[in-house]
Amino acid sequence: MIQFLLNQELRSEHALDPNLTVLDYLREHLGKSGTKEGCASGDCGACTVVVGELGADSQSIRYRSLNSCLTFVSSLHGKQLISVEDLKHKGQLHSVQQAMVDCHGSQCGFCTPGFVMSLFALQKNSEAPDLHRAQEALAGNLCRCTGYRPILAAAEQACGGGRQPDQFDERNAQTIARLQAIAPSETGELNSGDKRCLVPLTVADLADLYSSHPEARLLAGGTDLALEVTQFHRTLPVMIYVGNVAELKRIEHFDDRLEIGAATTLTDCYAALEAEYPDFGALLHRFASLQIRNQGTLGGNIGNASPIGDSPPLLIALGASIVLRKGDETRTLLLQDYFIDYRITARQESEFIEKIIVPRADPARRFRAYKVSKRLDDDISAVCAAFDLHIDQGTVLDARAAFGGMAAIPKRAKACEDALIGKPWNKATVEAACQAMADDFTPLSDFRASKEYRLLSAQNLLRKYFIELQTPHTETRVTDYV
Ligand code: FES
Ligand code: FES
Repeated sequence: MIQFLLNQELRSEHALDPNLTVLDYLREHLGKSGTKEGCASGDCGACTVVVGELGADSQSIRYRSLNSCLTFVSSLHGKQLISVEDLKHKGQLHSVQQAMVDCHGSQCGFCTPGFVMSLFALQKNSEAPDLHRAQEALAGNLCRCTGYRPILAAAEQACGGGRQPDQFDERNAQTIARLQAIAPSETGELNSGDKRCLVPLTVADLADLYSSHPEARLLAGGTDLALEVTQFHRTLPVMIYVGNVAELKRIEHFDDRLEIGAATTLTDCYAALEAEYPDFGALLHRFASLQIRNQGTLGGNIGNASPIGDSPPLLIALGASIVLRKGDETRTLLLQDYFIDYRITARQESEFIEKIIVPRADPARRFRAYKVSKRLDDDISAVCAAFDLHIDQGTVLDARAAFGGMAAIPKRAKACEDALIGKPWNKATVEAACQAMADDFTPLSDFRASKEYRLLSAQNLLRKYFIELQTPHTETRVTDYV
């Protein structure tokens, strides 16, 4: 059985198809059709809902916007689901809804419930957000007919300072008590016929379950896995949801490294990674949409082994490792050795990524990251590059250069690195390294970029890195788009 709050109503579910998304649960099972389906692939935001979850102290609630089309119902276990129907209270529109009316933020209205829910999450998470924060909150919501100026005006009206408490603020203590009362104490399960999703709470239980069910698919954020159901109409017979395993959501700081639990969301990784590596933080801002970052996990971004995942090239350039666990056994592997071929990894049966180990920033090294995509926000990389060089007295002592979008796997450019190491850090060396890069990669042409464009972009990003290191205060480095 799983339990969650549907706004304030306690729901206990055990006989639901675990392949059911929150979007379909709301619309088909509960008849709540306010939440819309636009793309069913996490791109449009029409399906945005807000999920409340107890904070680490269990005394506060964190509200996050999510794409309900990519969220399986099993992941609601122990949480609060808020949909657009829950905002109107005692006959009055919620302040974010009223702001959309006042600012003329809706024409056809199909996108509007998603915008309203993103604005609601923004209001709950920030005092007087600036324009940049509002744009970030709305970047995962597409509107084809109103245009964003009036919607941003609505954000300013609804989320600016001095707002009155709403019904969620008034019921805050009550909601916390209810969430505490339903906090899971043992592995939950949702099943229907032969289909099941198990929801363990500890890493030891997860390891046991995965050993007993090696055929299970591990569900973390689900932003990739759910596409198998929504886009390819497959059935996932057995899933294990890892998002309630507390040990997998921790970030620990050591003198020489960060250890990040594999189920830590990209949003939750942001502060720790940004503090060490500002470019990592800046690139995370351009990593899909806020809804996806609230859902997707660092371990999931590695585990799905996509050649265009944005975090692996950065982590590889930083010399990051992963800890893989199977039963009680663990092993540590350099991330660069995890990826073997297209969607093939070094992971063994019943083994899972437990944590990611990221070295602390070394002041002697220069880390930079770049993403080239057709759109600034909410887009997939054509090329993603990360460089981490140790340069001393004008000589390159060490170099790591890693790329996404250039091969079947995220990959280091060894020939390029060899052309840099031991050489003077000057334009001639960089040009030689750019030429060597042609030996590292034979990129593909697809609808994002041609192979020629990809190779030239990768070479130009190294040239850009060189120029930036001469002028270290360049502001635009990760904001390139084509
Ligand atoms: Fe488009 Fe979910 S329906 S993001
Ligand atoms: Fe029509 Fe946004 S109001 S798509």
